[in-house]
Amino acid sequence: MQKIRMGLLGCGGMGGSHQNGLAELSDIMELTVVCDIVLERAQKAAAALNVQHVVQDYHEMADLVDAVLISLPHDLHHPAGMFFLQAGKHVLMEKPMANTEEECLQLIDEAEKRHLVLMTAYPVRYWPVILKMKELVDNKTYGDVFQMSIWTEQFTKYPSGHWALSANRLGGGQFFSHGCHYVDLLLWFLGQPVRGIHLGTNLGTPWMEKEGTSNATITFANGAMGYHFGTWGARGTKLGYSFHIHCTGGMLEYNLTDRTLYAHTHIVDEKANLDTASRTTILMKEDDSSKKTQYETRHFLECIRDGKTPMTDGPSSLQGLRVIWRLYEAEQANQIADLRGLGLDEDWRNLRKA
Ligand SMILES: NC(=O)c1ccc[n+]([C@@H]2O[C@H](COP(=O)([O-])OP(=O)(O)OC[C@H]3O[C@@H](n4cnc5c(N)ncnc54)[C@H](O)[C@@H]3O)[C@@H](O)[C@H]2O)c1
Repeated sequence: MQKIRMGLLGCGGMGGSHQNGLAELSDIMELTVVCDIVLERAQKAAAALNVQHVVQDYHEMADLVDAVLISLPHDLHHPAGMFFLQAGKHVLMEKPMANTEEECLQLIDEAEKRHLVLMTAYPVRYWPVILKMKELVDNKTYGDVFQMSIWTEQFTKYPSGHWALSANRLGGGQFFSHGCHYVDLLLWFLGQPVRGIHLGTNLGTPWMEKEGTSNATITFANGAMGYHFGTWGARGTKLGYSFHIHCTGGMLEYNLTDRTLYAHTHIVDEKANLDTASRTTILMKEDDSSKKTQYETRHFLECIRDGKTPMTDGPSSLQGLRVIWRLYEAEQANQIADLRGLGLDEDWRNLRKA
């Protein structure tokens, strides 16, 4: 079978992070063109990836590709995505899919109408260690989950004039831009959301128009709770990026700092000091410190090749964004958000606006 001709649109920070992943996929695709409005960035990416064509205007990519990876500012996801879908090209869209529900629906409809793959790039979902965690949870290896907590503590301060400093261009604050990864993950692990709250602040991150730090808690139909603490204002961190899943038979921990998946078990409940009774086992260790985008991009390409629907397709990523939008609305109204109907497997079309 012929290799899929792929283009990279946007050679900034994340476009650069994709380079390692793309370099690993030459068995299934050929990177034919790179594009950035800043020519030197595109030229640098082309040199690193040995790509023949370099363009500044993405409209010139269409004839050279079957599929495109869009890594642009958020407000450009919709126009660029629509352009490529209307040209009959498959789209791997950096997260979040788009800044409004209407824009997301237009992208989904266009992809469906033309039988094209539209996938959101949520790399975490495709990491082997996360797949392992999901398998352990689904198999109830450590019993039933009752709490999944995710901490993402980073320092993210964009330079003056950067598009991400504008809440309009970003589509919201840290929770929308970055929390979307983890809301998606909580929905995937825990099922049907019922209600939730989000509280955010830009104290500590005055460069943000909306929140730079947020706490979100969601309850699920099975009784489990999900939590995400995300900040772009960390001046120091102990937890870094950490995922904890408490189950009735032990706790799973994935610590991104040491790239290790642990199981903490054997709490002896008669003991006064419960912590010291816990036994720690290493379940998996990773040696790749990159963003590991090769897994998501391979999944996208295989979906094109095999005519399959991606795990993080348009509708499922829209459901995650709807959760975020409902949580934002409830926060404004001082209410608890009603999240029923927003699970990844629920009938998303029922929620279409009239
Ligand atoms: N998955 C992750 O871990 C992760 C991390 C960071 C960013 N991202 C996502 O990647 C995307 C890009 O973010 P970034 O941090 O790389 O931003 P960035 O500003 O570093 O890069 C964006 C690039 O797009 C280029 N660009 C802007 N307008 C253009 C146009 N009309 N035509 C061609 N090129 C144009 C810019 O010159 C820049 O090089 C966003 O969707 C963001 O949310 C994902």
